[in-house]
Amino acid sequence: MKATLIVGSGRMGGNTEIQCEAVADALAEDGFEVEIIKPYWMDIEHCSSCDRCFSEGRCHIDDDMGIIYDAFDSSELIVLGSPVYFSGPSSIIKQVIDRFQLFWHRNQEERTGKTIALVSSGGSSNPRFESIISICRAFALTLNAKWGGECLVENTDVWDTSNVAKEAYRFGKILSGKVKKKF
Ligand SMILES: Cc1cc2nc3c(=O)[nH]c(=O)nc-3n(C[C@H](O)[C@H](O)[C@H](O)COP(=O)(O)O)c2cc1C
Repeated sequence: MKATLIVGSGRMGGNTEIQCEAVADALAEDGFEVEIIKPYWMDIEHCSSCDRCFSEGRCHIDDDMGIIYDAFDSSELIVLGSPVYFSGPSSIIKQVIDRFQLFWHRNQEERTGKTIALVSSGGSSNPRFESIISICRAFALTLNAKWGGECLVENTDVWDTSNVAKEAYRFGKILSGKVKKKF
C-alpha cells in the first residue's frame, strides 16, 4: 500500500508540513510506503484550460506535475494538505488540483479504488473550512475516489505545534484502518 501526501503550503516546518509528516509517520508504522510531495518547491504551471487533455488523454504541459501524476497512479491513498487562506484552499494545492482536469473525462463510471483525504489548518478560532472541504471532495468525486475524511485544526496562531502533530497522527491511524479495510 502506498500513500502520497501533498503539502499545499510553502512554509517550511509549518502546520501543513507537520500535519502531512505526522499522517505519514502513522501510515509508515502501519506498513504503508509514503511519499511526501511539496509542490511549492517544484516547477508546476497552472492549467491553461487548453482542453488538449480531452482529446489526448494526457496533459501536454511538460513540468513536475508528471511526478505527482505518477505518485497518484501508484497510491491507494492521497492526502491533500492545505492551510486556510482567505477562507479557501491555498493556491498551491488548488493549482495541483486544477491540473487533474484530464481525469474529468476519464473513467467517469469506474471507481479508482483510491481514497482521498484532507488535512487543513487555520490560524483563527473559526476558520472557514467549508470551501476547502467542498473543493477537495469535488476533487475526490471527479477522480472517482472515496472520501477519507478530514483532519481540521483551528487556532494554529496560538496552539503549540505538538497538538497539530498529535491530531494528524491520530487521523493517520484512522486512515490506515479505513484504507486497509477498503471501507
Ligand atoms: C495568505 C494567508 C491567508 C490566511 N487566511 C486565513 C483565514 O482566512 N482564516 C484563518 O483562520 N486563517 C488564515 N490564515 C492563517 C493560516 O491558515 C494558518 O496560519 C495556517 O495554520 C498556516 O499553515 P502553514 O503553517 O502550513 O502555512 C491565513 C494565512 C495566510 C498566510
